[in-house]
Amino acid sequence: MAILVHDVRKSFHLQKDREIIALNDVSLGVEDQEFVCLLGPSGCGKSTLLKIIAGLEQASSGWVEIDGQKITAPSSDRAIVFQDYALFPWRTVVENVQFGLDLRKVPAKEARKKALEYLSLVNLCNFANVYPHQLSGGMKQRVAIARALVLEPKILLLDEPFGALDAFTRMQLQFELTSICKKNSPTVIFVTHDIDEAIYLGDRVVIMTPNPGKVNAIVNVQLPKPRNRTDYDFNKIRDRVFREFSLVTETSLEYVI
Ligand SMILES: Nc1ncnc2c1ncn2[C@@H]1O[C@H](COP(=O)(O)OP(=O)(O)OP(=O)(O)O)[C@@H](O)[C@H]1O
Ligand SMILES: [Mg+2]
Repeated sequence: MAILVHDVRKSFHLQKDREIIALNDVSLGVEDQEFVCLLGPSGCGKSTLLKIIAGLEQASSGWVEIDGQKITAPSSDRAIVFQDYALFPWRTVVENVQFGLDLRKVPAKEARKKALEYLSLVNLCNFANVYPHQLSGGMKQRVAIARALVLEPKILLLDEPFGALDAFTRMQLQFELTSICKKNSPTVIFVTHDIDEAIYLGDRVVIMTPNPGKVNAIVNVQLPKPRNRTDYDFNKIRDRVFREFSLVTETSLEYVI
């Protein structure tokens, strides 16, 4: 499914006379099955934009279209994964993954079969019957991803899903996400403030800056997947992204590197 963000502005009223412009006339087109990373520092409006696309927040002006239809509310076509996993502690791992299928009234046996299939995709089928508190952070995040993927959404919205993980687990999940997306081909918007993560995953990297939040540059990453971070071309793109940031933040490149 293709996503079109058209002149979206979002302001929040803090107190009587104070407002924050979280997004200032943001426009962005995402093609069907494209993987786009939103990259930017804290406060540049990444989560706000993702929530508006999910239908969880309303834009102050402008709109978002999906396949030509303006969105006004959340839909099961769009799955969202947050950074803090948000698993149900009283449900086992497989029951967590099954949750959305239960809501859709999928027969229990079929739902469980499908949940197990997606747990195996994220290498967790041996942990189906344990509870979330018995898992590591990386494993919990895998469960959250399986819970979103099991619904086979056309659009996957991920808000810093690997932010809390150690570097090794993070790289492993980045690799797994690349393979899963190759298999299921959803349209993906992935929020991160990690430059390498954005270049490793994205077909395009959308660079956002704060005060007010806006899109400053878009960098194409035309490298085959899975990518190699030590590649010459990967590093050339990394330099380009650093350069874009140094231009907009007026920080010298030497300092950033
Ligand atoms: N519900 C809210 N009420 C008031 N202000 C908000 C609200 N949500 C976001 N903001 C403000 O909007 C701006 C953008 O916030 P947002 O959470 O989208 O940033 P972000 O890029 O996701 O940051 P981070 O990387 O820290 O998650 C911030 O200045 C924030 O204070
Ligand atoms: Mg955020």
